[in-house]
Formats: sequence, structure tokens, C-alpha cells
Amino acid sequence: EDDPRPYPSTKRLTLVSNRLPVTINRSKNGQFQYHKSSGGLVTCMSGLGPDQSSNWYGWPGSVESHHNCKVRAELMQDHGAVPVFLEQELASRHYNGFSNSVLWPLLHYQDSLIAFKDCDWQAYQKVNRQFAVEIAFNAADGDTVWIHDYHLMLLPQMLREETEKRGKRLVIGFFLHTPFPSGDMFRILPVWREILEGVLHSDLIGFHAPSYDTNFKRTCSDLLKLVELPTGVQFQDRFVRTSDFPVGLDPEKILDCLQKDEVKRRISALKEQNPNMKYIIGVDRVDYVKGIPQKVDALDLFFEEHPEMLRKVTIIQVAVPSREDNPEYRDLATRIHQRVDEINTKYGDQSYQPINLIHQSVPIEDLLALYASSDVCLITSIRDGMNLVSFEYVACQSERRGVLLLSEFAGASERLAGSLLFNPWDKEGTAAALHRALTMDMDERTVNHRKAEEFVMKNTRYGAYDFKYPSRLRKLTCKNRSAHW
Ligand code: ADP
Ligand code: G6P
Repeated sequence: EDDPRPYPSTKRLTLVSNRLPVTINRSKNGQFQYHKSSGGLVTCMSGLGPDQSSNWYGWPGSVESHHNCKVRAELMQDHGAVPVFLEQELASRHYNGFSNSVLWPLLHYQDSLIAFKDCDWQAYQKVNRQFAVEIAFNAADGDTVWIHDYHLMLLPQMLREETEKRGKRLVIGFFLHTPFPSGDMFRILPVWREILEGVLHSDLIGFHAPSYDTNFKRTCSDLLKLVELPTGVQFQDRFVRTSDFPVGLDPEKILDCLQKDEVKRRISALKEQNPNMKYIIGVDRVDYVKGIPQKVDALDLFFEEHPEMLRKVTIIQVAVPSREDNPEYRDLATRIHQRVDEINTKYGDQSYQPINLIHQSVPIEDLLALYASSDVCLITSIRDGMNLVSFEYVACQSERRGVLLLSEFAGASERLAGSLLFNPWDKEGTAAALHRALTMDMDERTVNHRKAEEFVMKNTRYGAYDFKYPSRLRKLTCKNRSAHW
């Protein structure tokens, strides 16, 4: 209550997510190190930094630097970020426990991986409350607070409670970056009511894809018996608007980066290394929702059926390390390495390895060079909120007009015209789609690429977020003030 920290600025839009655009950890010699966080949430929200009149609250990663003034000042100054420092065990129960071992598998239909523990649920509530108290302390009456993702689903309700105690009223938006499953799946969660009601204290709730919005409204009407309308649901005395707001990238930034000498050099080097090789690119966090084992199995079948493609095709799979404290993720990484080794032994030799697995975080310049040099991008997610890798690939393909092979279980598939859709559970179908992509003629590739490019260039993160979403929130401020306040 008596936190002496001043509100970092007088800006009126506040972003909140568990993951900040930079994550901090401590090196062996005790220095704090900042590195860019990976993941679609950070990619699409990063443009809304200090220049976009926002402060961004979040957990800075595993830091024992509670109330460290230097860290706080550097985060604010360089990234517009306001750290919410969490005690280590609490953070772990919230992040590894309830968020990533209950909500993440639930929202991605992986019910066999759900590990519900009451102590993790308690921690989830405490962390959401801590965010609410810190934000409420600094917020001004009438501010817009825009909350992101499944780590903070109780925050809309808690923030209302904390601000109303202080006589302040906020406009609250919530955006879910994952899918929202059907009600029959969602009710597996022992605390489904608390989570649904927590989110429903928002004024506006956004999803990546129309089907997630439909599932959410249907779940509210089936489980909570709320009245469902095309534009939202009636909850208590307020109408909560819901809709899909597909996020995009900043394609200009990608195009600028592609012009850098450094990136051009890398593209030429890849070409010179093997001028006749066709490259298939995959970029995924090592996460079971990305379907990397399914991808490797389909590649195995593809080479079995098309031995003529050996030595002509190489798959470059960037596997970005993710959530390594979670044994499920560590086991997955081990399984991927084993399967890739098997395939490389089966089809390769010292001069040729069909799969080049890069299990590390790759700098953006390398990533863009790989996208630009690849003939096909293969995305096999078994569930995925949106998948921004698909957009990044399209943005890098104006010359090559490569083929985007996209799982129909990625949210992007509901939007991105011009991609070849397939079902990653169908190994034969995936292998056949891959063959079709690799042998597609330039005319068809051009037509497809133009459609995809048009969407990616138009549906930028500025279009989707900066103008549409916050301006709708602001409009709601006026409406709700007269209707409910
Ligand atoms: P998810 O959010 O599930 O990870 P997305 O495909 O939506 O999946 O987003 C992944 C994002 O992470 C992409 O924008 C990609 O460029 C980015 N990314 C990949 N590797 C790195 C890295 N090493 N550092 C930072 N961002 C990365
Ligand atoms: C997905 C989630 C984000 C998350 C990101 C990276 O995109 O929707 O909320 O930040 O994955 O995962 P991490 O656990 O490292 O934050």
C-alpha cells in the first residue's frame, strides 16, 4: 500500500504479461544479463514500447534482485518495462506449476499432461493478486490496462477489486495468445468457474481466431449459463465484448533487417555452400504443441517414399530451448535429438545429413537469412494460438516465393490465405504435402505467395493492436462509464 515507488510515467496505456520483452538472469560473476525473450507474445507486442505510450508490467525471469533499483531503472529506461519481482518458489509454482502444467496443456487440448496441484493453484492466485496490487497502486482513474495471456486470467477481477477499493476505475482488456478449447475440454479444470469469472471482469476479451472466440462464448453459456450474443456475453451487470483480433508482425522491420549487409552475406553464404540444395525451414520453441516429433516422423516417411530427394533436400530445424525446468519439455528435447539422429543415420553419411537440428536460440539476422533462403517452411503445430513464424516466413519470401506448409491446427490457418494446409496427425498426408510443396511450379507459388503477403503486410501488429484494439477499449471507457459506473 505504501510502496514509495513512483509511477514510471503519466502514460495511460498499461500492458501486462507474465513475460517481459527482456528476461534477466545472473551470470556466474554476479552481473545481471538481459536477453530478448522469445515467443509470439513478445514479437507482436514489442512495438508497443515506450514510444507507443505504454508501460509494460511483467515478471523479469529468475532474479533474486528484489527491489534492485539498478535493474528497475534499466528495465524502465531501455524497455518501458516495470518488473513485478516474485519470490522464487512462488514464481515457480505459478509459472512451471499452474500456468505451464495445467493451463497450457488444457488450452491446447493436451489433457493427459495436466498436473493439477492445489499448492500451484494457491500460488497462481497469489501472483495474480500481487500483479493487481502493484498495478492498482500506480494506475490512475480512467487508465486502460491491457492484460495478456493465460498466466494472468484472474487479474481482470483482482485488478477491479484492488482499484475500486482505491476509488479508481479502469478499462480492462484481456488478450489470450493461446487457443480457447471447447467447453467439454475446459470443464476438466477443477477451478474452471474461478478462471472464467476472473477473465469476465474485463471490458473486452480478444482471441487470435474466430473459433476460439466462439468456444469461449459457448463455454460461458454452457458452464456459467450466461446469455451469449454474437458480440459477447452478459456477465453480472455488464456486457463483456469478445472478438477475434488476429495479431501480426511489423513487416517493415523485417524488410529493413533483410537489407542489412550482415543478413545479405548470410544469405549468399547459404547459397554458395550448396547451390542446388532445396531447404525446408522449421522454427519452433521446443514445445509439445509444435508437433516436432510428428514433423520428424513425416520426414522419415517422405525420404522413404522419395529416395530421389536425398541429397537434394535438407531440413533446417531451429529448436529454441523453452521451459527447461519442466521435465515434460526436457524429455521432449531428448526424444527429438534421438529421432533426428536415427533419421540422419538412416539416410545420411558424413557428407550429407537430411536434418540439421539447431537446438539453440538463434540471432534474428540468422533467422531471417534462413527464412529467406528456404524453399518451404514446415509448421506442424498440433495446436497453436496463432504462429507468427508463418508470418515471418512469408515476409521474407518476396523473391523466392517459397511455399508455406501450415498445420490446420495453428490459428494462422484460419487467416493466412495462400498457405498449403495439412493435418500433422496424418503422416502420409504430411509427406505428400511436402512433396507437393517441393515440386510446385513458380506460377502457383507466385499466386499463393501474393495472397499470403497481402495478408501479412496489411494485418500488421499496428493494424491489429495499436489502432483497433486499444481504440475499441477507449470507446468502451465512455460507454461503460455511463452504463455501469
Ligand atoms: P510461440 O509464441 O508459441 O513461441 P510463435 O510462432 O507465435 O510461437 O512465435 C515465436 C516467435 O519467437 C517468432 O516471432 C520467432 O521469430 C521468435 N523467436 C524465435 N527464436 C528466437 C530467439 N532466439 N530470440 C527471440 N525470439 C525468437
Ligand atoms: C507462448 C505464450 C506466451 C509465452 C511464450 C514463450 O507464445 O503464449 O505467453 O511468453 O509462449 O513462453 P515462455 O514460457 O518462455 O514465456
